[in-house]
Amino acid sequence: MSAHGQPFSMTARRSGPLRGAAEVPGDKSISHRALILGALSVGETRITGLLEGQDVLDTAEAMRAFGAEVTHHGPGAWSVHGVGVGGFAEPSQVIDCGNSGTGVRLIMGAMATTGITATFTGDASLNKRPMGRVTDPLALFGAQAVGRAGGRLPLTLVGAADPVPVRYATPMPSAQVKSAVLLAGLNAPGQTVVIEREATRDHTERMLAGFGAQITVEDGAEERTITLTGQPELVAQDVAVPRDPSSAAFPVCAALMIEGSEITVPGVSQNPTRNGLFATLVEMGAEIAFDNPREEGGEPVADLRVAHGPLKGVEVPPERAASMIDEYPVLAALAATAEGATVMRGVRELRVKESDRIAAMARGLEACGIRIEETEDSLTVHGTGAGGVPGGATVQSHLDHRIAMSFLCLGLAARAPITVDDASPIDTSFPTFGALMQGLGALIERAD
Ligand code: S3P
Repeated sequence: MSAHGQPFSMTARRSGPLRGAAEVPGDKSISHRALILGALSVGETRITGLLEGQDVLDTAEAMRAFGAEVTHHGPGAWSVHGVGVGGFAEPSQVIDCGNSGTGVRLIMGAMATTGITATFTGDASLNKRPMGRVTDPLALFGAQAVGRAGGRLPLTLVGAADPVPVRYATPMPSAQVKSAVLLAGLNAPGQTVVIEREATRDHTERMLAGFGAQITVEDGAEERTITLTGQPELVAQDVAVPRDPSSAAFPVCAALMIEGSEITVPGVSQNPTRNGLFATLVEMGAEIAFDNPREEGGEPVADLRVAHGPLKGVEVPPERAASMIDEYPVLAALAATAEGATVMRGVRELRVKESDRIAAMARGLEACGIRIEETEDSLTVHGTGAGGVPGGATVQSHLDHRIAMSFLCLGLAARAPITVDDASPIDTSFPTFGALMQGLGALIERAD
């Protein structure tokens, strides 16, 4: 269960127009949940289109450690023989979730109401991230966590043998926290309620309903209330994982940056809790068509058609943050090529992702010759427009796949090449990134 391979650097150079179809991999959020819900179900869950990035592979390994039978049949095709709600066995080894906040937080939730103990760890990035946001609500069920200062990993969680249901208002917009509480609620008697002030990605709610749980969602004017009835029998399902809009964002933004580009990105999830980036791109003046809207694997999907055109900077409203949270790094890169300033407010949560993404983008953009302004919860990027991004820098990825991919995309449009010091984290979410971008005509290659 290693998090990453050996570090290696990559360089992106100014490229001609990108052309062709970008078949991005399966959605990371849905892939984690398919494995975890499969493991908590009775019977055999069959999954197609699973993302085979390291984050998800680590979750698959963890589900084996908790007693589920997880089998790889072919590219993207997996099956999970579940142990049922409350059926997790105590793992005999430390659970290594690598780089994945989603993996560790959801798995902690899933085991917190079972009378077993497990110890979790991760890579240098994950071991810096706050876990108290999950272990605090899990303590309300009766689970006990002992971790490092600030609740950080490595951490041991003693599950509640006699859990009680919980009513919890999430203090920050976080689908991981919401999901951890809901997964813990599965093995508590009675009703577990999660209240969120801003809607975050709703895959857990959709998929729990699909696996047979009784779950209701009430959309109020001020908040969203999710009520789950505990101790259901989850029934194994066939899950077709749609393509990841957060991965689609990279070829889409690269095509928007490079003159003459025209690409398609088929079958991308258009879940409204995930599509804030596309709304922002359209406001910037991007030409994007959403063809053949349809439903796949319980999610709305469409085929995207994207053509380059001049873009202008915009103010991204803070209320859009939850629906485009993972896309700010690549938006910041794109904004560097637009005319005028792009202001991103209400993005405090970016500071506790795989890296401090506000700082990582700010330092990297400055190194590439872009003027930025940074506050605790905002980033402003002053685009160069027709003048062009100078580039010609080596930037640090800070063990963050999205920082690495964002700067490689920017390097395709910059006047001088951009090198990313360590591109190995890309493997966590988008192992085919380099080959896919090269297939579209991008000049990206390993630098060492
Ligand atoms: C995710 C939720 C988001 C997102 C992450 C995936 C999920 O994190 O940034 O990449 O699958 O639930 P937060 O819940 O911390 O906002």
